[in-house]
Amino acid sequence: MEFKNLPQSSPFLNFQDYYLKAEEHGEKFIEAGCISSVDNENKPHSRFVNFKYFFEDNLIFFSSYKSKKADNFSANNNICVNFWWPSIETQVRIEGTISKCEEKFSDEHFFGRDAGKNIAAMVSNQSEEIESYELLKEKYEVIRQKVDSGEIEEKRPDNWGGYQIKVDYFEFWEANEARLNYRECYKKESAAWKKFFLQS
Ligand SMILES: Cc1cc2nc3c(=O)[nH]c(=O)nc-3n(C[C@H](O)[C@H](O)[C@H](O)COP(=O)(O)O)c2cc1C
Repeated sequence: MEFKNLPQSSPFLNFQDYYLKAEEHGEKFIEAGCISSVDNENKPHSRFVNFKYFFEDNLIFFSSYKSKKADNFSANNNICVNFWWPSIETQVRIEGTISKCEEKFSDEHFFGRDAGKNIAAMVSNQSEEIESYELLKEKYEVIRQKVDSGEIEEKRPDNWGGYQIKVDYFEFWEANEARLNYRECYKKESAAWKKFFLQS
């Protein structure tokens, strides 16, 4: 994850400190956070995504704008995220509201990625049913060959881009041997962040 114009206040700097500590400890899936959303029947759904930026007060990942999760975000823009970094026995819970990133931002990220990943984004109708995995691989191969031969251009699909979560709550949780776990929280109230602790 890249940190850009991060607010120089406690909860954001804490997040960065924990992240860098987990990175030093060799945390393998450090960018992976589990996001939960609810659908239009108030049913919750969770899945992992890789967070690529903390830009100002927004956590950013990239995905399809036509997926199941995209439908959930349209129904309800309240989101929570959970990072678990075992190497430092730390969980970070985050809450906020989600919206699409600017197209320019998504383009910049798209063209900085491997062609292989981009072809997958161009080919796959994320979350739609398909008869078999082999069929998806065939679709991928057809488009990959056309991109390689120059027949079609590598282009960010209209239905793929960044999502930004504007954060209004953090909880930093650290494991303690006696189960007296440490829980330090920050809640945004108007412009200020209120700091408090929770019992474990
Ligand atoms: C570690 C990990 C990272 C992932 N990162 C992403 C991601 O950045 N973007 C994405 O769209 N899906 C990512 N996925 C796949 C999602 O978990 C999920 O299968 C997909 O987005 C479809 O979810 P939906 O049907 O709820 O929309 C990741 C999965 C794992 C296990």
